[in-house]
Amino acid sequence: MATEFSPAKINLFLAVTGRRADGFHDLVSVVAPLDFGDELAAEPGGGGPAADRFTLECDDPAVPVDGANLVLKAAAAFARASGFAGRVHFRLRKRIPVGAGLGGGSSNAVAALRALNTLAERKLPDDALAELAAALGSDCALFLRRAPVVMRGRGERVDLLPEGAVRRLRGRRVLLFKPSFGIPTPWAYGRMAARGGDYVPAAEAEARLAGWTNASRPAEELLFNNLEPAAFSKFPALPLLLARLRGFGVAAAMSGSGSACFALLPAEAAPDLVSDLTRDIRECWGPAAWVGETRIA
Ligand code: C5P
Repeated sequence: MATEFSPAKINLFLAVTGRRADGFHDLVSVVAPLDFGDELAAEPGGGGPAADRFTLECDDPAVPVDGANLVLKAAAAFARASGFAGRVHFRLRKRIPVGAGLGGGSSNAVAALRALNTLAERKLPDDALAELAAALGSDCALFLRRAPVVMRGRGERVDLLPEGAVRRLRGRRVLLFKPSFGIPTPWAYGRMAARGGDYVPAAEAEARLAGWTNASRPAEELLFNNLEPAAFSKFPALPLLLARLRGFGVAAAMSGSGSACFALLPAEAAPDLVSDLTRDIRECWGPAAWVGETRIA
């Protein structure tokens, strides 16, 4: 049996720079894995009839466990690339909300690749895993690193940040919150394309990022997401809450294509800051809003 922690991510910086000929978007993004996430166990020898060697169960009934789930897509891709012929039953303990921009599905796919590589007699090297991950989804490649990274291209090009920048992010306390509705990623990018004017030129995005990376500025000053205007134009409850939370002196932004948002908590925060923020989130978004505290891994 192989068990993998499958972390959520947040985009601290997300500059979408333009639409590509293949319909995807180019971006420059600083993404960090969190201590909060799902857990995926891979049990060899399980599985159903010969036709489906890979099977999946999940403790959240809202999560599809058929071929649409990225865990099973990742397993099929791994078997094709490596010749792995075993049968495996996956158990997914789901904690990351879906449709949140927290990378849950992509993270689960990478956890499946890691688990199968542990079980396989013939291991795939890191570059082969990276190629498989990138083909599964734009956000998958980042989860092969266990550190804050910069993603470029449509997300498949991943570079580590300089050590000084990593030090300013690692261990930072994060409050995550999501309204009862999710935002489908294709919808958010489609809305951005229809609006047309929200893109940031690539050179400007790189200069902005370098300005933060090369100076000793705190994580708060990195926060940026130009998918926000597209999402906020349909869901005004998001900017309304973020403005209210900034009134408590914390930096806050939407993660990825939403709908989850996050606030960076000061290390020396007053003990009642989290309860005050949580009360405000529930007042603004209703009692069904999801709230969790974690840290950048
Ligand atoms: O690659 P992934 O399956 O995560 O992408 C989901 C959708 O999000 C794509 O079909 C596309 O509409 C949009 N997308 C994009 N540019 C990216 C990433 C995602 O347009 N870099």
